[in-house]
Amino acid sequence: MMMIDKILQQQIEYYRARAKEYDEWFYRIGRYNRGEENNQRWFHEVAIVREALHKIPDVDDILELASGTGIWTQELLDIGKKITAIDASEEVIAISRSKLASSKVEYYKTDLFTWQPNAEYDLVFFAFWLSHVPPNLLDSFLSKVNQSVEIGGQIFLIDSCFEPTSTATNHIIEDDDNFYKTRKLNNGQEFQIVKIFYQPDELQNKLNQAGFQAEVKITDNYFIYVHGKKFR
Ligand SMILES: C[S@@+](CC[C@H](N)C(=O)[O-])C[C@H]1O[C@@H](n2cnc3c(N)ncnc32)[C@H](O)[C@@H]1O
Repeated sequence: MMMIDKILQQQIEYYRARAKEYDEWFYRIGRYNRGEENNQRWFHEVAIVREALHKIPDVDDILELASGTGIWTQELLDIGKKITAIDASEEVIAISRSKLASSKVEYYKTDLFTWQPNAEYDLVFFAFWLSHVPPNLLDSFLSKVNQSVEIGGQIFLIDSCFEPTSTATNHIIEDDDNFYKTRKLNNGQEFQIVKIFYQPDELQNKLNQAGFQAEVKITDNYFIYVHGKKFR
């Protein structure tokens, strides 16, 4: 197995093992609690991104990639009639299923690096996923996203900006060229994953090459987010 394949496998294992503690990151609990001021900044910026997402008029079909424990699936329930949610971890799918308890969501356990798109959607959404796609697989991933959107259909994506307080207190985050990063569980177990921090221009160009007209925005500290339309 090549090094990158091993890391991508570990990345799946990391999120499987982390499933029960995953939401601590988003809700700033335990190792992710960075103090009142930072937490307030975080939630304020989450609200900005959420508001931008909810500006999308209602659609019929949404595809959510790497849907995780359903933090954003919950938001998508207000926008789409039906949501297809894909993730490689049955553990996170089980949590999302029990939290949302919605017949509008259909879940599929699928590895996005071997996934073959087989339908077109009005909106394709992914949060905190693109940063985990290694550079050599980015173009092929975005081309599959393109195949999954109807002409004139939309994409919305959210990801992390480089900001040390976004991750756990015991994670070292360095804005260097090495996109392999070490992540730990609450019990200290370590995993290697891929994490890339995109600059707005870079992301805009990549999406444009992939057939999307995209508006890329950043919040003051934590998030980069994109609303785009498929033009070819
Ligand atoms: C940072 S989490 C984001 C989850 C969710 N979108 C959110 O914003 O909370 C990354 C997700 O990618 C999933 N994942 C990791 N590798 C994957 C792969 N190869 N194919 C599909 N999903 C994968 C993990 O199980 C995890 O749920």
